[in-house]
Amino acid sequence: MERRTVAAAAADIEAFLAAQSRQDLLRFITCGSVDDGKSTLIGRLLWESSQLFDDQIAALRSESKRFGTQGENLDFALLVDGLSAEREQGITIDVAYRFFASDKRRYIVADTPGHEQYTRNMATAASTADCALLLVDARAGLLTQTRRHATIASLLGVRHVLLAVNKMDLVGFDAQRFAEIRDAFDAFAAPLGFASVGAIPLSALNGDNVSERSAHTPWYHGPTLIGYLEGVDVTRDGAHRLVFPVQWVNRPNADFRGLSGTVAAGSVAVGDALRVTASGQLATVAEIVTFDGPLQRAEAGDAVTLRLDREVDASRGDVLSHADAPLDSSDQFEATLVWLHEEPGLVGRSYELKLASQWSGASLTAIKHRIDVNTQAHEPARQLRLNDIAVCNIACSRPLACAPYAESKTLGAFILVDRYSHATMAAGMITHSLRRASNVHRQALQVNRAARERINGHAGRVVWFTGLSGSGKSTLANALEVELHARGLRTYILDGDNVRQGLNRDLGFTDADRVENIRRIAEVARLMLDAGLVVITAFISPFERERAMAREVVGADDFIEVYVDTPLAVCEQRDVKGLYRKARAGQIPNMTGINSPYEVPPAPDFVADGAGADVSVLIDALVERVTARTTDTVGIASPGNQ
Ligand code: ADX
Repeated sequence: MERRTVAAAAADIEAFLAAQSRQDLLRFITCGSVDDGKSTLIGRLLWESSQLFDDQIAALRSESKRFGTQGENLDFALLVDGLSAEREQGITIDVAYRFFASDKRRYIVADTPGHEQYTRNMATAASTADCALLLVDARAGLLTQTRRHATIASLLGVRHVLLAVNKMDLVGFDAQRFAEIRDAFDAFAAPLGFASVGAIPLSALNGDNVSERSAHTPWYHGPTLIGYLEGVDVTRDGAHRLVFPVQWVNRPNADFRGLSGTVAAGSVAVGDALRVTASGQLATVAEIVTFDGPLQRAEAGDAVTLRLDREVDASRGDVLSHADAPLDSSDQFEATLVWLHEEPGLVGRSYELKLASQWSGASLTAIKHRIDVNTQAHEPARQLRLNDIAVCNIACSRPLACAPYAESKTLGAFILVDRYSHATMAAGMITHSLRRASNVHRQALQVNRAARERINGHAGRVVWFTGLSGSGKSTLANALEVELHARGLRTYILDGDNVRQGLNRDLGFTDADRVENIRRIAEVARLMLDAGLVVITAFISPFERERAMAREVVGADDFIEVYVDTPLAVCEQRDVKGLYRKARAGQIPNMTGINSPYEVPPAPDFVADGAGADVSVLIDALVERVTARTTDTVGIASPGNQ
């Protein structure tokens, strides 16, 4: 299998598409486990249609060449819908797109590897497919993998699914065996909502029922594989509301300002009144510009630049609709997630969410249930693991134009991206938006933080200590508070061991619980900061992501991170609470530093040598930092200098 970027694959497909009408073209995906004979089957399909295929490829080459020399402005990667953020990040995936034709149709096959960890590739390919071909080995029958692929295909809106029961020659073309597998699959797929579910007995190796009916299966009366593919219904619901996500603002010179992007759904014509979803501003289309000249009307899939009759506040990530068909926006929704990464998905951890070129911070607020792919049963889950499929609630940091996936693939599909590694963590499909937050409005209170700080005579700050258990966080926090208190500052310490006895007594030490622990502390610290206090926190806070989240929640300007850098050996030797000894004895399953990770902060504001004897230098520096910035903000003399 060739490795290529999605962008390259997308360009090929687009070139191939350029020559086709929709009815003539079927896009399908093939899924199967390693030994199901998928390559053999695809090889045979290509071989049996080799003559046409060669023509297609020649055409494709020349098309690609033509497009490829069109200068640098056209980005073909933008032309194909689906999970496009992967393309923007230039991620290489293992999906091989193949092209072939039969008498009646042309085909694009997305061939995805069968290994479990490649679910992401399958999801990427399925988001644009009309049909999924699931291969099984007649000897083995349905596998968990088959059921997972069927489930994901249905979630991603693939309408037709065909079970290719391969290697029938190895079970003596036994009608009974085929019927068993077909019936089991029918029963499994029935609730998944496909428009059609089929099964064909095959031998890819010998060509039985691929394009010719097999003499070995007189008991089978359905179509051959090619016959089936020729007949798959690719008509899609026509009328769509306009969805135009702005990819960039095009301003080649001072006289021209246009909004560039690809029409994701519906169509737009010169003279149409449009609305910017976020701001509600209206404008009329003055001109539709494309690389090949102006258009009167642009349809879904067209990459265009819209020049409007007046300036509107729209930039990358805004979504335009027709003025009289506005799009809904929401910052909370329920969605079905397919978790695509080895690193687990945790409630409370924040990710970047991308939906139709809109980006937002986002976190899982609840995992409602995980779906067992074998039985479709709902089961409880505390975190999401690789390949899990689960229904979750998602909260975004700003409202996004969105819609249920069933109504709009464009506005209903999103991905979650890790904030640091930029890896795609999950693909999601919105089931419905949650109106919960829309009736909760922030109260504008008359006495605000500045007023409180004025009475206090100093500004609030958050000093966030992080480090291993026993590193000396509490000792340092205490010493700092004593100093600040002596200077008349209003302070408060939030300490792990204390808070865990009250507010957070429902939380333990799994990764998921630590994330929630820090989320709550960050929120409490923010409230206390708003109350005008100098808040000092002492939590292990082992994960960089949650420390970054705390910095964000509190506000970077008010957040001072102190890494208490004490070697594990020293902490372990101190072992004030006897926890390390217990952990070494196997009595504590998740002890930080022993069998649970601690991520060293990459850029703390201060590093404390927790093994050193004299902490006064650090405390002085911290006092200075807290009080010096206090002076800037409130404009009064630092209490320490009076
Ligand atoms: S955090 O990881 O979620 O930030 P937190 O600072 O609240 O942890 O709590 C750490 C304190 O809990 C430690 O100082 C220790 O006294 C106690 N503790 C109990 N079990 C564990 C454990 N498995 N890992 C770390 N600390 C533990």
